Amino acid sequence: MIYFDHNATTSVDERVLQAMLPFFSRFYANPSSLYKLARLSRSAIDTAREQVAQLVNARAEQVVFTSGGTEANNLALKGCVSNAKIVTAAFEHPSVLQSASAQLVGITSQGYIDQQALTQLEGSFDLASFMLVNNETGVIQDIASLSSIMQERKTLVHTDAVQAAGKIPVDFQVLGVDLMSLSSHKIYGPKGCGALITSAKYVKSPLQTGGGQEAALRAGTENVPAIVGFGKAAELAYAELDQRHQHCLALRVRLEEQLLKLPEITIFAQHSQRLANTVQFGVQGHVGEMLLMQLDQQGVMVSSGSACASTDTSVSHVLMAMGVGEDLAKSAIRISLGQENTAQEVDSFVRILKRTLLKAH
Ligand SMILES: Cc1ncc(COP(=O)(O)O)c(C=O)c1O
Repeated sequence: MIYFDHNATTSVDERVLQAMLPFFSRFYANPSSLYKLARLSRSAIDTAREQVAQLVNARAEQVVFTSGGTEANNLALKGCVSNAKIVTAAFEHPSVLQSASAQLVGITSQGYIDQQALTQLEGSFDLASFMLVNNETGVIQDIASLSSIMQERKTLVHTDAVQAAGKIPVDFQVLGVDLMSLSSHKIYGPKGCGALITSAKYVKSPLQTGGGQEAALRAGTENVPAIVGFGKAAELAYAELDQRHQHCLALRVRLEEQLLKLPEITIFAQHSQRLANTVQFGVQGHVGEMLLMQLDQQGVMVSSGSACASTDTSVSHVLMAMGVGEDLAKSAIRISLGQENTAQEVDSFVRILKRTLLKAH
């Protein structure tokens, strides 16, 4: 079995699991209760807040735990400004695109947000939301420049850093953004946990009200085991960032060298600054979803282009925004590598892919 879909989700790191386990059984108290056992839960959340803050160079009090990246994006876009004028990019995750009716800025053929088009946008905006790394192509955006363009226009800036944090150095201060979304399950933490890095002054109307948890920005009894797991995953990602990057980069170089020998293959945004773990490519004359199923039958798990925000549900809105032709976009396969992957898996994958392409003709 070869798992090449780490941008979709990762397994939980054994060290993360071990950190979480006591909080299901021994340390189960509600962190808002007043006895000693509850103080253990509270203190575990405080530690996790520090760990997540450290990963992105934010302050612990700026971390609002949520149920994941989707909720963090929703909270940023819906909670900050009512009836806001929002600008975002055409290739964002659906949890951004569907959270507000926003003006969309285009994407260049190399997978970058079109800065020139952004500067030419007329009118004023309350909020801008631009992702730090695109989940399909892996292209890393120049968020620092984009946020300075928007801040000159007195616009709050949010970045969806779900695919970036734990994979590249992310610095909340240096990026100059006001809000940032994170998710735990992309970095070997549990699913259903994430965070919005923000300040109470920006979140005017929380999505959930109630018991005042998370500085009243996200009410509801905290999911202590998941938060502890997210904290541990963030701590490990911070400590092992370089090592993880080098591991994926070596595999990606090996993979791309072999892929580029196949005549039907085009690597999207090949020469752009990309995550070390991500390769998205088109296979001329094939359909990505069919290939995906044929690979699955042979024990290989990959992803095709995401299907959202497009009238034709089988085409990636990211590739369409980059101006990739429809047929090539429909043939897209995304590989996203992870820590447990090996050079042998890369070689086997290419062998299996070649065989599959031959059979299809
Ligand atoms: C860029 C991006 N933003 C947001 C999300 C949503 O995160 P979650 O699955 O934690 O809700 C994802 C997950 O695929 C993502 O890739």
